Amino acid sequence: MTRSLEPEVMDSPDIPAALLEQFHKDLHRIHGLLGTYRTIERFLRADPLPVRRVLDIGCGGGDLLLYLRRRMGVGVIGIDPKPAIVPGLEIATGNAITADLPKADVAVCTMLGHHLTPEENIALIRNVARSSRRFLILDLIRHPLPLTLFTAFLCPLIGREAGADGRQSIRRSFTPTEYLDLAQTAIAGIPGATVQIDVAPLRSRQVLDLRFPA
Ligand SMILES: C[S@@+](CC[C@H](N)C(=O)[O-])C[C@H]1O[C@@H](n2cnc3c(N)ncnc32)[C@H](O)[C@@H]1O
Repeated sequence: MTRSLEPEVMDSPDIPAALLEQFHKDLHRIHGLLGTYRTIERFLRADPLPVRRVLDIGCGGGDLLLYLRRRMGVGVIGIDPKPAIVPGLEIATGNAITADLPKADVAVCTMLGHHLTPEENIALIRNVARSSRRFLILDLIRHPLPLTLFTAFLCPLIGREAGADGRQSIRRSFTPTEYLDLAQTAIAGIPGATVQIDVAPLRSRQVLDLRFPA
């Protein structure tokens, strides 16, 4: 499959607030079915160093931050250009590629990478390396198998717009080879930096695990 560059409804600068909120609810549902939050928790718990503060980049509705705070007792903060207002949760408004990011032990981001170009992904990784010692990137995989499974089993459970955006997200995503390649380009000039990739069964998601030793 060739990578599609068609934008998603969610990317529209004029998206009505109610529709954006519905998207975040549908995404939360999808994450529950795919086990996204549990996957991030597993990676964090396996960290050999203490994890006291987690930054979620492109945190959307903030549900991953709430989950991690509840499950792990960590401090949490998010950044998003269109932040949700969640009582008791600190979310900065901004573009994580260019912003001066809050310090954290680990930065995470879920379902953001496919919205960005390869060059923006490289710039994001380099920016995160300035403020966190580890960066976990979880995203979809461009492949006919997850596209077929998403259409058959998840689309009927979520809103029409989120279903269409989800299918487009898979078409826009990177293959593991492409993502690993661009991550290696990003860290090439960072002393001691490493990257590993983990691909789930049925290619339902990939996790890039980047480390930037001090
Ligand atoms: C598909 S949503 C994913 C939301 C959430 N991470 C999740 O998995 O449910 C992508 C999010 O990334 C945010 N985003 C897009 N470009 C961004 C950027 N340059 N820096 C930070 N966040 C960005 C969007 O506003 C949106 O909330």
